[in-house]
Amino acid sequence: MDGIFNMDGENESSSSFPIGKTPQEKGMSHVPKCYMVSSSQRPNLNNPEVARVPLVDLAGMNDDSERRSIIIQDIAEACRRNGFFQVINHGISQEILDAAISAAFGFFDLPTEDKEKFMSNDVFKPVRYGTSLRDGEDKVQFWRVFLKHYANPLSDWIKLWPQNPPDYRQKMGNYAEEEQKLAMNIIGLITEGLGLGPTYLSKKWEEGVNVMAVNSYPPCPQPSLALGLPPHSDYSILTIVLQSSLGLEILDSEDGQWRVVPHLKGTLEVHVGDHLEVLSNGLYKSAVHRVTLNSEKARVSVASLHSLGMDEKIDTAKELVDEEHPKGYKESSFTDFLKFLSENDLGQGKRFLMTIKNN
Ligand code: OGA
Ligand code: NI
Repeated sequence: MDGIFNMDGENESSSSFPIGKTPQEKGMSHVPKCYMVSSSQRPNLNNPEVARVPLVDLAGMNDDSERRSIIIQDIAEACRRNGFFQVINHGISQEILDAAISAAFGFFDLPTEDKEKFMSNDVFKPVRYGTSLRDGEDKVQFWRVFLKHYANPLSDWIKLWPQNPPDYRQKMGNYAEEEQKLAMNIIGLITEGLGLGPTYLSKKWEEGVNVMAVNSYPPCPQPSLALGLPPHSDYSILTIVLQSSLGLEILDSEDGQWRVVPHLKGTLEVHVGDHLEVLSNGLYKSAVHRVTLNSEKARVSVASLHSLGMDEKIDTAKELVDEEHPKGYKESSFTDFLKFLSENDLGQGKRFLMTIKNN
C-alpha cells in the first residue's frame, strides 16, 4: 500500500479528514506534519531500554492469607515506586485474553461504514470511535484509532456496543466481565495495603464506571517522528491494560528515563491513575506512560479505566491525612475529568492531576 494514499500535495495540516480514511490507516509513505511530535517528545527507538517492571503473581490472593499479605506488600511497593506493575495468575484465561485481542483487531479491520456510525468528538458519549485524542482539534495529532465504550454494569452498556464483527460483543464482553472482577480484587489488595481495609471501595466500585479504551496503532512509516499516545497519566483509580505486542512505555520516576514495558504472554499491566494518587494522598503516584509505534505491524490494546460513578467524588482518605501529611488534593469525579478532557489539549502536557492538586 505504501505510497498509494500518499498525502503529498494534499493539505497536510488539514484539521479534519474523512472517517476511516484516516492518515493512520491509509498506509502513507511518511508522517504528515500535524502528526509530528516536538523533538523533545520523540522516542528513542534504536536502543530502547526495557523496564524492570514488578511482576506480581496473584495466585492465592483470595484463599491463602499468608500469600495475600505478600501480594499486598508487593503491590504496595510497586505503587510507591512507579505506580505500575504487571500481574500473572490473575484468573483470566489465555483464551479470553486472545479473544478480546482478536475482537479488537476484528473491529478495526471493518469497512469504514461499520465504524463511522460510532464516530464522535463528544467525550460524554458512552460509545465512540475516533482517532488521536481529539480528532483534528489538538495541535498535534496522535497515531491512534480508538473505540471507547462503557462496560459496567455490562448488561446496561453491551447493547450499545458494535454488532459487527458478529462475535465482538461476546468476546469483548467475556473479557470485560472477568476484568471487572479482577480490578475489584486488585483495588481490594491496594486499599488493604493502604491500611483502609479490603472493602473500603467495594460498594462504590460496583457502581463505578469502567471505560474500555480499545486502541489500534496502525504501522507508522516514520515511527521516530510520531507517538501513538503522548505522555499522560490516566484519570482513573486504576487501569488494567491488555496488549497485543510491545509499544507501551513508562516514565521511570527515579531517573526520568522512558522504558519499554515487556510483553509477556498472559500478563496484564496495572497503572495507578490520578484518582488513586488522590485517595492515597500522594503516597502512590499515577503512572506516566506513552505509546510508541513501529513500521511493521499494527498493535492493539484494551485499556480498562476504572473510576467511581459518574458524579461520585473521590477524595483523599482521611485516614491518610495528618499534620505531617496535609491533604494534598481536592475531590473530583469522572464527570470533572470529562469536562477537563473536552476543554484541554492533552498532547501539550496538560494534566488533569494538576487541576486537583493543592499547591
Ligand atoms: C490509554 C493508554 C496504553 C496502550 O488508553 O490511556 O495509555 O498501550 N493505552 O494502548
Ligand atoms: Ni493511558
